[in-house]
Amino acid sequence: MPCTVIAGAFWGDEGKGKIISYIALKDKLDVCVRTGSVNAAHTVWFGGKRYALHMVPAAFVYEKCRLLIGAGANVHVAKFLEEVEATSVKNRIGVDQQASIIEEKHSLQDKTSAHLKGLGTTGWGIGPAVEERVRRTAKLAKDISELQPYLTEVSTEANKAIDAGKKVLLEGTQGLMLSLFYGTYPYVTGRDTSASAICSEAGVGPTKVDNVLVVFKAFVTRVGAGPLRGELTKEEASERGWFETAAGTGRDRRSAPFDFELAKKAAMIHGATQAAVTKLDVLYPECKGARKHDALSKEAKQFISKIEEQTGVPVVLIGTGQDALDIIDRRK
Ligand code: IMP
Ligand code: MG
Repeated sequence: MPCTVIAGAFWGDEGKGKIISYIALKDKLDVCVRTGSVNAAHTVWFGGKRYALHMVPAAFVYEKCRLLIGAGANVHVAKFLEEVEATSVKNRIGVDQQASIIEEKHSLQDKTSAHLKGLGTTGWGIGPAVEERVRRTAKLAKDISELQPYLTEVSTEANKAIDAGKKVLLEGTQGLMLSLFYGTYPYVTGRDTSASAICSEAGVGPTKVDNVLVVFKAFVTRVGAGPLRGELTKEEASERGWFETAAGTGRDRRSAPFDFELAKKAAMIHGATQAAVTKLDVLYPECKGARKHDALSKEAKQFISKIEEQTGVPVVLIGTGQDALDIIDRRK
């Protein structure tokens, strides 16, 4: 802090929602800017309730946090309004006037394109919506009547907050391996997901960022098609307790062991200064609910050390359970 970027390392679903909700509560975040679009679902467990957020920033759990959606984002109006209602954040959320709109027709184009279907997209219409924006025919947030009460200039709000020494978090979506530039092309999403791109979508320059926190999960998952080194069968994944379904689309997630090489690449391209590892308790059940590093088993500690050695980035947050507060916090 004051300005931290949160970025995923693999194919999304690393648990960024949990990490962001924890930081929001613990650090009393002032501002959280969400980037990306509706294809990403950030899961947050709070007050015994589960939220899978497609539009509202995961920091909503801290009731004083100003919530923003950046100019680089694609806003799904109906989903946005629905989530604003469900999280009761009407009076503290803003959308950049230049954010573009993702519409039903984009979803239809996505679902009926044999090419996109073959890539295993989420079907929300990300590719077609981005295409339309690049063609410069997309609608912007300022063109939508329902969004009028929320319009703002996110870059100005975020930079002012940073300059005033407030705590600002830029919320990345998906992971580096889904980046249009650095991922497993063509099995990627329609945008760059690197930390630099997250800053760009929020309107915050690189000199304003103090911290880039890369989020790893203790094992790797991916939904949709494309390469996955060391992929397990569904049976093997279930045996290990790694089998998951997607928070957004409900599809089966494919899984594989932690990939140190990919972790290293993600840390490099994100320019990570810190790392978080989520779901350590899935790999090491004896660690469930641990809130102190000393409470971890020897094997779990060794795993964390190996990540630090291989990536050169300190692991400062370790997730040991689903609740926002099930975390080991090694930050100073
Ligand atoms: P699209 O982003 O819907 O175009 O899908 C492209 C690829 O990215 C597909 O493999 C999707 O499953 C994957 N993808 C998109 N968003 C997410 C996400 O939030 N989590 C995990 N995978 C995602
Ligand atoms: Mg997700």
